[in-house]
Amino acid sequence: MGLTKESFGTDFIWGVSTAAYQIEGGYLKDGKGFSIWDDFVRKSGKIAKGEHADVACDFYHRYDDDLKLMRYMNIRHHRFSISWSRIFPVGRGEINQAGIDYYNRLIDHMLSLGITPWVTLYHWDLPSSLEIKGGWTNRDVVEWFGDYVACCVRNFGDRVKHWMVLNEPMVFTGAGYFLGIHAPGRRGLNSFLAATHHAALAQAHGARIIKSLQPESIVGTTFSTSHIEPFSAKDRDVQAAKRADALLNRLFVEPLLGLGYPTEEIKTLRKMEKYMQADDEKNLKFDMDFVGVQNYTREIVAHSYFIPYLRAKLVTAQDRQVPVTTMNWEVYTESLYHILKKYSAYENMPPLMVTENGASFPDEVTRGKVHDPARTQYLQDAITHMQRAKDDGVDVRGYFVWTFLDNFEWAEGYDPRFGLVHVDFETQRRIIKDSGKWYADFLRE
Ligand code: BGC
Repeated sequence: MGLTKESFGTDFIWGVSTAAYQIEGGYLKDGKGFSIWDDFVRKSGKIAKGEHADVACDFYHRYDDDLKLMRYMNIRHHRFSISWSRIFPVGRGEINQAGIDYYNRLIDHMLSLGITPWVTLYHWDLPSSLEIKGGWTNRDVVEWFGDYVACCVRNFGDRVKHWMVLNEPMVFTGAGYFLGIHAPGRRGLNSFLAATHHAALAQAHGARIIKSLQPESIVGTTFSTSHIEPFSAKDRDVQAAKRADALLNRLFVEPLLGLGYPTEEIKTLRKMEKYMQADDEKNLKFDMDFVGVQNYTREIVAHSYFIPYLRAKLVTAQDRQVPVTTMNWEVYTESLYHILKKYSAYENMPPLMVTENGASFPDEVTRGKVHDPARTQYLQDAITHMQRAKDDGVDVRGYFVWTFLDNFEWAEGYDPRFGLVHVDFETQRRIIKDSGKWYADFLRE
């Protein structure tokens, strides 16, 4: 028998994920303030081909038709993010009513179509005015974020019941505050450690605020994950893989579960102490209703003297000569199975949701169609691995494809296409890819 959604049970959530900066455009529309991504794309050499998301998919203006298309594809759950600087143009203080109105229209339209909104409160677009004050390195960000979260719950909570606090804190602190390859482009250990601790505090603080204002809400947060394997059985590679795992898979989820930071594996994390205050350890913990895992590939890790702090390096998929996506990520869907098992093995882990999974391939439009068998295969294989995990007893309750529309893929620009729907960025024409037709069929009631 082929893959069916029925085998996951009638309550299983199937949807798609998107993010404000990657699709909306309208970057200064109706009083929106600048975000760190609006700034970052304007710095030379940061984004492939110098691209930006001032217009992106123009979802800000086209959401009506796009959501109808979503519904036409039988998609009943949409995970999307709110742009903080549409609500608070300078991050805090005065509310921009036009921003609230926009998300009200969006949410109402989704509900009228029978699509359930799943709101991500922070998908990487910090208001620029807050970055000037230090952004995630400034401890005040926890309170600024809390005020913004409260504003969203007060304005949208009568209709939105499902919330996700942060999107992949490891990526926005690692790429944004350590490596400098994402906004705001900062580098160095101190900015990374400070940003990490404040983001970890914010993920619990944000959730606490939602629950206090709306006790019946369903609250989670999301984590980037990769199944990690050592390059060889040599002890130094095995130890390097453990350190990489602590950084990539454990750094944010463990404090949330009350286990603290994984300082045993990565001694450098002990320096985090200088940012800790009394009660922080307790405040990092929160009992979420669910945890979102986002998974794309695995990593093979070898020991390296040249990589500071971690002394571990990723052995690239290209060096291993394995099949890759246009992100140069190995096509390895079994990673999802391992990650679901790993996360569910924590004591006190709430139910899991796969809040992002998908693949970018070089799509082509031929006579108005997009044949993308590799993406369909990827999704089917990943869902099969999720089924395996479920059969092993993992409590996984939902799956969201990344993503609905081809969109702005951060530092990579528009080249990697992850969508179920093809977007021609010149004309804004949409074409449902074969993978999108497959998903629509899979979801058919
Ligand atoms: C992010 C998305 C991104 C996707 C593919 C995740 O890290 O949450 O915003 O587009 O992966 O790179």
